[in-house]
Amino acid sequence: MTFCEYRPGLEGIPATQSSISFVDGQRGILEYRGINIEELAQHSTFLETSYLLIYGSLPSQEELAEFEHEIRFHRRLKYRIRDMMKCFPESGHPMDALQACAAALGLFYSRRALDNPDYIRAAVVRLLAKIPTMVAAFQMMRKGNDPIQPRDDLDYAANFLYMLNEQEPDPLAARIFDICLTLHAEHTINASTFSAMVTASTLTDPYAVIASAVGTLAGPLHGGANEEVIEMLEEIGSIENVEPYLESCIQRKAKIMGFGHRVYKVKDPRATILQELAEQLFEKFGRDHYYDIAITLEKAVEERLGHKGIYPNVDFYSGLVYRKMGIPTDLFTPVFAIARVAGWLAHWKEQLNENRIFRPTQIYTGMRGTPYVPIEKRQSEQDQQLLNLVTG
Ligand code: ACO
Repeated sequence: MTFCEYRPGLEGIPATQSSISFVDGQRGILEYRGINIEELAQHSTFLETSYLLIYGSLPSQEELAEFEHEIRFHRRLKYRIRDMMKCFPESGHPMDALQACAAALGLFYSRRALDNPDYIRAAVVRLLAKIPTMVAAFQMMRKGNDPIQPRDDLDYAANFLYMLNEQEPDPLAARIFDICLTLHAEHTINASTFSAMVTASTLTDPYAVIASAVGTLAGPLHGGANEEVIEMLEEIGSIENVEPYLESCIQRKAKIMGFGHRVYKVKDPRATILQELAEQLFEKFGRDHYYDIAITLEKAVEERLGHKGIYPNVDFYSGLVYRKMGIPTDLFTPVFAIARVAGWLAHWKEQLNENRIFRPTQIYTGMRGTPYVPIEKRQSEQDQQLLNLVTG
């Protein structure tokens, strides 16, 4: 088969067959293993959803209890990983710290027994268990404090918020945070998942797979957008400034952060749920001024750019929710990674089941048969420009 049409960003080109999640971008539907995201957000926990994504069906009570127990048991970090983290510059971005830590796990646990179900299970459990601890530990260390040890009596979401703030979270905040993780757990073949799959296809260890996905998620056009949304709302500053700001973005052809999606051409269903969660939080803990700016901006963008299918994506309201929980802005993307590890692991497992190394082709646009110039005869670009000036 020859397929010669080139599409930048591989838009619309299937890169794999997958039974993990489904998106209908025209109708705003997202399903994990066929189950609607709204139902999972309402009735399941993040770990239950992770099990569904990774193992293909919702766990029984016993299966879930065992899964949760294993994850609780593996939450701690080896002291050498903590020592390594102490050497990280406190000004470094937490996503870079997380990528380094995820890769470092491979130093401790690399056996690459990819055909052994126990190895696969241990990798799944370790990564789900330790990534939140790493994110919270870096946050404490960069403030000059010792990391807070995980607490076995707290569930997954509550324990993360506890390790971050050294304070048991309010139950509503913990439940909402858990729902946020569920909403961010998986989303078909996005950039970071594709990156995970390409890395997985070489049969390297799962820690390298997750480290490469974390690096990809960090970019501002992907997971990094939720940070930029808050920066943008701060820059707008007031409801009166929404229209002038939008106008200036449109004139400059600048992207409005938290809007637009390669697949969704209507409002992202996760944005709708996150907006509801934000309102629940504001009702209990007080309204955020930036939320009023956000809803005004959403309305204005819909009027001006709705015809192009530009609506809020998952990142638009998530930042406001995290901000209300006291999570620092530069931890928004690491929090996204804590959730997306579930999806990356599901795709890693699926990739291993029917692996073929990714090796796409290219359309070559360079020169052919270029004569080789020895170094002493080469001219710098500057010399060449001067020569062109002199010779007219
Ligand atoms: N603001 C203004 N215009 C936009 C936006 C936006 N956020 N997004 C897309 N458009 C416009 C483009 O200017 C373009 O218009 P044109 O056809 O007149 O030139 C059209 O919509 C198509 O845009 P593309 O950039 O080609 O769409 P693509 O599918 O490549 O990009 C992306 C999707 C990267 C998400 C883009 O919408 C964007 O940059 N959004 C802002 C960043 C963001 O919020 N990222 C998070 C995405 S969700 C996630 O990764 C978890």
